[in-house]
Amino acid sequence: MTIIGNWKMYPSLSDALVLASRLKQELEKIRGVEIVLAPPLPWIIPIQEQWHYHKHGVQFAAQSLAAADQGAYTGETSNYFMKDIVGQVIIGHSERRQAGETKEDVAAKLASALKWKLKPTVCIGELRPVLDGGKLEPIGWHHLLTQAKAVLAGLKESDFPKLGLAYEPVWAIGGGKAARPEYVAEVLDRLMIALTDEFGPNVKEITWLYGGSVDSTNAVDYLRLKEVDGLLVGSASVKAKEFIQICHLASSLVSQ
Ligand code: PGA
Repeated sequence: MTIIGNWKMYPSLSDALVLASRLKQELEKIRGVEIVLAPPLPWIIPIQEQWHYHKHGVQFAAQSLAAADQGAYTGETSNYFMKDIVGQVIIGHSERRQAGETKEDVAAKLASALKWKLKPTVCIGELRPVLDGGKLEPIGWHHLLTQAKAVLAGLKESDFPKLGLAYEPVWAIGGGKAARPEYVAEVLDRLMIALTDEFGPNVKEITWLYGGSVDSTNAVDYLRLKEVDGLLVGSASVKAKEFIQICHLASSLVSQ
């Protein structure tokens, strides 16, 4: 089971260091859960220094990295540069897609992450609900399926176990309007059937996450779904108590 905390651009350096020190004490006690923190990029090294970080406990992810390795790319940082600092990277978050990142950009970033052996979690999600009383809304479904297929199209089947796919309905992000667990289960079932048809049974080897207004009151409802292997948590991940509670809940499900 995997729990990723996406801190987005929320905490200042001082807030990030306070949050990290509160998390460290508790998170290191948690067993059976892969816990990944994605702070703002420039705060990762100060947090690691404060933690006397070694690569065995909690892992770190970048929230986005460039597809190129090195060169004239002002403002960018590459998988190649970050490979000794983080073990993972989030790719194609909807907030980046809304800012202009295309599915081709996402595919190129994914290829770079795999090349430099950073574990990628690629985000996909529809803009408006795609299911209404069991009926599919064709335009939204096509959008979601196209995004998912574009992620898998450039991969070999042997890459699937290295990949995380975070299903984050865009309408459920940030606003406290989490998708109902039954909705998530049904969309993921349909996605897995469609993707297995096209890409083969190894689609099941992907780590499937849910994200969108996850907090400690609803986390278990998603984690109990057979379709879901973990969570991508945004705003609740910068509240120490909330995030620790989510990780404890995940751990208690693993040990059941
Ligand atoms: P949220 O964000 O938990 O604040 O909805 C999730 C995400 O954007 O990854």
